[in-house]
Amino acid sequence: MFTSSTVSIPESSEVPRHLAIIMDGNGRWATRRMLPRTAGHARGVQAVRRVVEACGRRGVKYLTLFAFSSENWRRPQEEVSLLMRLFVQTLEKEVVKLEQQGVRLRVVGDLSAFEPHLRDLIQAAEERTRGNDLLHLTIAANYGGRWDILQAMRALLRERPDLADSPESLVEQDLAKHLSMAWAPEPDLFIRTGGEQRISNFLVWQLAYTELYFTEDYWPEFGAKELDAAFKWYRTRERRFGRTSEQLADKTR
Ligand code: IPE
Ligand code: IPE
Ligand code: MG
Repeated sequence: MFTSSTVSIPESSEVPRHLAIIMDGNGRWATRRMLPRTAGHARGVQAVRRVVEACGRRGVKYLTLFAFSSENWRRPQEEVSLLMRLFVQTLEKEVVKLEQQGVRLRVVGDLSAFEPHLRDLIQAAEERTRGNDLLHLTIAANYGGRWDILQAMRALLRERPDLADSPESLVEQDLAKHLSMAWAPEPDLFIRTGGEQRISNFLVWQLAYTELYFTEDYWPEFGAKELDAAFKWYRTRERRFGRTSEQLADKTR
């Protein structure tokens, strides 16, 4: 079902239905401990496990994790290779567990840049967990918000070549349905660990009305307690979607 915060007013709930996280600060966490940055990435995987489990227990329906951006290829080659290896190892190890936990796994991003073995693992993991519905876990890998909009645009133009003659007939949904997470509602809550306050080309279209939460905690030290602090903050937000506070107080208006 298509829902858009700019077309209609989404329902709000106590616990975010869709949580999107930029898992940042692995490198600094490790450097602080005189460890190689790669040790931080390895510890980051443990934090993923904790957060997936905690989200499942708290009734989050969609959890989207930014694992590798389209700009992360700019990092030193050894670090990129290590991240790819870690991705492969984690998929090999964790998929059975995810399947048992009722988690449906999807990976979004330009997967064409990955080696065939990794692509096969991703496809197998997606197929294996396809029947699950407790928690929809999405890993954004070689993902960029601008890439997403561009690929949606390309798909739209392929589907509707007639649009060039009547561009004014184009509505939001025409494009949005081709975005790589079209099956999910827009994120209610965004968390970025590691202290930076930026979007870094994550879900640029989908974050239009998302509540943004930034924490100094490095990703490897993030867990259930830190998640609850973010949820507590989220519950204090008044989600107006363009309306006034008075309108929200008076539900009859
Ligand atoms: C996030 O941690 C993980 C990835 C981007 C893959 P970083 O590696 O960016 O850690 P910092 O920001 O350098 O501390
Ligand atoms: C964003 O973190 C990407 C991921 C966490 C995967 P970065 O560490 O790459 O972001 P910048 O470079 O600080 O903006
Ligand atoms: Mg970083």
